[in-house]
Amino acid sequence: MQENDLPVSAIADARTFTDQAALHGLLARLRRTDPMPWVESGLTRPFWLVTRHADITAIELQPDRFINQPRQAILPIAYEQAAAARTGGKGYQEVMRNLVAMDGREHRVFRAIAQSQFLSKALGVIRDDIDALAVEFVDRMEARGNACDFSAEIAMWYPLRVIMTILGVPREDEALMLRFTQQVLTSQDPEYSQGGGGISAMIQMFDYFRPRIADLRVTPTETIGSVVANARVDGDLLSDRDVFGYFLILATAGHDTTSYSLAGGLLALLENPEAFSRLRADPLLIPAAVDEIIRWSSPVRHFARTAVEDGEIAGTAYKAGDTFLLSYPSANRDAAVFDDPFAFRIDRKPNRHLAFGTGPHLCLGQHLARMELAAFLREFVARIDTVELAGEPRWTESTFVGGTKALPVRYRFKDRVPA
Ligand code: HEM
Repeated sequence: MQENDLPVSAIADARTFTDQAALHGLLARLRRTDPMPWVESGLTRPFWLVTRHADITAIELQPDRFINQPRQAILPIAYEQAAAARTGGKGYQEVMRNLVAMDGREHRVFRAIAQSQFLSKALGVIRDDIDALAVEFVDRMEARGNACDFSAEIAMWYPLRVIMTILGVPREDEALMLRFTQQVLTSQDPEYSQGGGGISAMIQMFDYFRPRIADLRVTPTETIGSVVANARVDGDLLSDRDVFGYFLILATAGHDTTSYSLAGGLLALLENPEAFSRLRADPLLIPAAVDEIIRWSSPVRHFARTAVEDGEIAGTAYKAGDTFLLSYPSANRDAAVFDDPFAFRIDRKPNRHLAFGTGPHLCLGQHLARMELAAFLREFVARIDTVELAGEPRWTESTFVGGTKALPVRYRFKDRVPA
């Protein structure tokens, strides 16, 4: 990796994330020379940028000293102002509260509502559905002929269908959900933006879900959405706002992240044809390849924590109230943890990546994400004959969640063996 002299403030600029080489050149330099700089860019309120795997892990594993409130992500000042303006000064939490914004007991209690549903054993009941959806989306790619935009036409839709099945959202509302989730999570990108940093999309999404939450209380279903809508904390049903907060975090966290990993995985395989050939020859490598794909693509570009008291990390003193940006893409290229971190190795073991975070907020959907990616890859490598890039990939402008939004590919499927 070629280190560069980009200013550290570039990390707060969404455009930096459209050039992965430049981003990683900056992060590699910082890990080596200045692993936790203070960033004042004018774009966001200032923060500490934490680049090393060990420091991010230490922060996440001390949830009493580094909390999620009040700043879970470091977003442009303009968005914070827009959210305040739309909510009478109260901000996003007026519309919803969710796991990511909770700490301590409240977080444990709320997380427990859906946690058991997302354990790998519990997910066994939807394995067949996911396998069937993987087939459907590989079919869709085949039906496109010999070329498609893999990001926009396949990768964006497959995890969306999975998570909407879990929430009980019908297929005809999927395009609407895609628009909402993109506006909420990737509103920094001018292609998805509607101004206001996603707050309007959140309000519209709440309006969409409110009557559905009421329906699920009258007529419960087998979905995780129904489990959440009917959950009780200390004997009481959750407020609509809290149920919506849960739906929103599942819909957003469970969608773009996995879509970007899938597209990032295909791009990595195209850029590493030897790895692709090995995977096709030996599908037993798929589980390890999935984790390497997630490490490689690191679609969640950060979460944040705030210090409860003064302290010191890696020789740097900080104050109570300071915020830390945890750079997962940086942790996942840290040579102190990964042998040859800039090599894409589908059999990397161990693979202690932090793409799902760690500690009490460790991604709730990690087993589901792995299951989805593995199901797609199994079907894809079994059926694809040739595949190559057909144009330049384009990356989302986002400091928060992102990956390729356009991945033009040309391909040929194997001839079907007549039944
Ligand atoms: C490759 C795909 C995914 C990646 C890279 C990813 C990454 C992350 C990360 C980094 C966090 C924050 C962890 C922390 O603060 O330590 C998180 C939290 C979360 N993720 Fe995922 N995620 C993915 C897929 C999913 C899926 C499919 C779901 C589906 C339900 C999901 C649901 C959640 C939830 C609910 C949280 C909040 C957990 C909490 O605060 O307790 N994620 N995810």
